[in-house]
Amino acid sequence: QLALLDYFFPGFSTLANAIQKYLHIDLNFYIPILLLIGALTLMWNYASSYFWEQMENYFMSVVDIRTDDEIYNILMSWVAAQRFSQGARRFVVNTNLNSRSWYLWRWDYDEDNEDDGVEDQTNGSKKKKALSYTPSFGSHYFWYRSRLLLFRRSCNREQGSSLLASEKEEISISCFGRNPWILKELLLEARAMHMERDRQKTLIYRGTLRSSSSDPTWQRCMARTSRPFSTVILNEKTKKDLVDDVTDYLAPATQSWYSNRGIPYRRGYLLYGPPGTGKSSLSLALAGFFKMRIYIVSLSSITANEENLASLFTELPRRCVVLLEDIDTAGLTNTREEDKNQCASGSATEPMEPGQITQGNGNTNNPPAVLPTGRLSLSGLLNILDGVASQEGRVLIMTTNHLEKLDKALIRPGRVDMIVEFGLADTDMTAAIFRAIFARLEGDDGPKDTTADDLLLDPVARAALSEEREKKRCADEARVIALALEFAAQIPAHEFSPAELQGHLMRHKRNPRAAIDTAAEFVETTRKDRKEKEIKKAEEKRKAEEKRIEELAKKKKEDEEKEEKEKEKSKKEERRKLSKKKSKPKTQRSAESSSSKDDDLSLDSDS
Ligand SMILES: Nc1ncnc2c1ncn2[C@@H]1O[C@H](COP(=O)(O)OP(=O)(O)OP(=O)(O)O)[C@@H](O)[C@H]1O
Ligand SMILES: [Mg+2]
Repeated sequence: QLALLDYFFPGFSTLANAIQKYLHIDLNFYIPILLLIGALTLMWNYASSYFWEQMENYFMSVVDIRTDDEIYNILMSWVAAQRFSQGARRFVVNTNLNSRSWYLWRWDYDEDNEDDGVEDQTNGSKKKKALSYTPSFGSHYFWYRSRLLLFRRSCNREQGSSLLASEKEEISISCFGRNPWILKELLLEARAMHMERDRQKTLIYRGTLRSSSSDPTWQRCMARTSRPFSTVILNEKTKKDLVDDVTDYLAPATQSWYSNRGIPYRRGYLLYGPPGTGKSSLSLALAGFFKMRIYIVSLSSITANEENLASLFTELPRRCVVLLEDIDTAGLTNTREEDKNQCASGSATEPMEPGQITQGNGNTNNPPAVLPTGRLSLSGLLNILDGVASQEGRVLIMTTNHLEKLDKALIRPGRVDMIVEFGLADTDMTAAIFRAIFARLEGDDGPKDTTADDLLLDPVARAALSEEREKKRCADEARVIALALEFAAQIPAHEFSPAELQGHLMRHKRNPRAAIDTAAEFVETTRKDRKEKEIKKAEEKRKAEEKRIEELAKKKKEDEEKEEKEKEKSKKEERRKLSKKKSKPKTQRSAESSSSKDDDLSLDSDS
């Protein structure tokens, strides 16, 4: 035995001899026992894993949770709230519970708006990220509605090393018994909990590509606190018309009204206007107002080719807002007829990456030189918007900066039922924006601690106090209104976008007076900036034009040179042919002469 062990552990026999000599323990006696115990443990392990496998197969129900689906986030936030994960001895701590494969593909991960996974806890004045604990890899038992369930988190070995460490994770929940109803209930509860938290939020989804494959999918990118409608400053009548229209469309009776008349149950809105006039903001506010999710695709983004867009549209839920941004992107600006022509002569077009942005060509009489293949074409978009793939019951909102670039087919009634113009700020709007920034709103000063001193006072004093507060509020309001008028008087109407004004006011958000005093300066600098930008743009355009002309000239020259060469070549050829014809008798002659020479030579030699 010792000799054998010596083979595996060199020096073992020496050690054993030493132990026997000094401690009088015969290892030879214990080794078989140890081996037996080892064998038994091994067998037990094997038997128990076999037993578990069989048990799982026949007596348990299991739900597997995908890490690249939203249910992962939903379930994990539920798990984090459970007692068993608080008590787990080995656990994972996160500040953000979202699945890595989701999180990585967020479009604009915005810290301030990030309340997805965990609510920020306001602790004193400092914001702290809440920590959440979830059980780590392994099996964890827990009680749910007096049933024993098993939460299992394990490494995914199948998907190789192409994934990040945190993506290689599999999650399942199992219950004993062949009926999985309890699992379904758990999932429903998790979803309900998730939705409860999002009640005051506008959920924003963006069309992206899945991380593992390149399938397009809707990715939840953030949950924003719903923006009140009143904070988007727009002509009151237009706003009311829009809201009434959507309300009417979403009313329960409307769908049957549509279907009874054979009209597809869809409604589309087009918002147009210069950048920064509130088009996107209004769309978000609308979604929040009607408590609908909003699905955003920018047609100038990488995902927006025809195939991706079509599959995104088939994934839409029944009731939602779809926001198509920048529909004046290239490819859509030419008319449908030209589109067809382009397709017919498609071979001439240069291949382009999907999503490549081309300069929009506003002039419809002058189609762009290259129409990207694999990119969205107008007819493609039209098919998606009202083809088979399109869900009924959705609210479609399209935004653009250039109404005049759009094709009539895209904005005909049925596709676009209402067109809303967003203009630059007029005097009323300017004043309203000022008021919106400087009005004292509830919660501006952080959580109120009125309770402390209010409770100390008797009812009469308390009433007096609240009256005084009310008076102060009114005075404040009047002051802000007066200041707003003063500010608006300094800003020329229809020249600046609300975003620009808001930017200026925000720079002085604690000091309305300074905002007014610097208004003239703001007007000046913005004008100057704009002029500079325009000059720069013109310069760039001129340069591009020059370059184009230069290139054309170069090409022409090259062509000419080529032609010249061709000509030269053909001339040479001709000459050669001519000379060949002429030289034939000549060679004969020369041959004759040479032979005569030879003769002469021979004669010479002979002589
Ligand atoms: N009418 C408005 N009322 C209130 N805020 C506005 C308004 N217009 C713009 N803003 C503010 O300006 C910023 C930009 O607005 P938004 O993104 O809605 O502009 P947009 O019209 O979608 O611009 P773009 O055409 O460039 O997409 C936002 O912060 C928004 O709050
Ligand atoms: Mg926008």
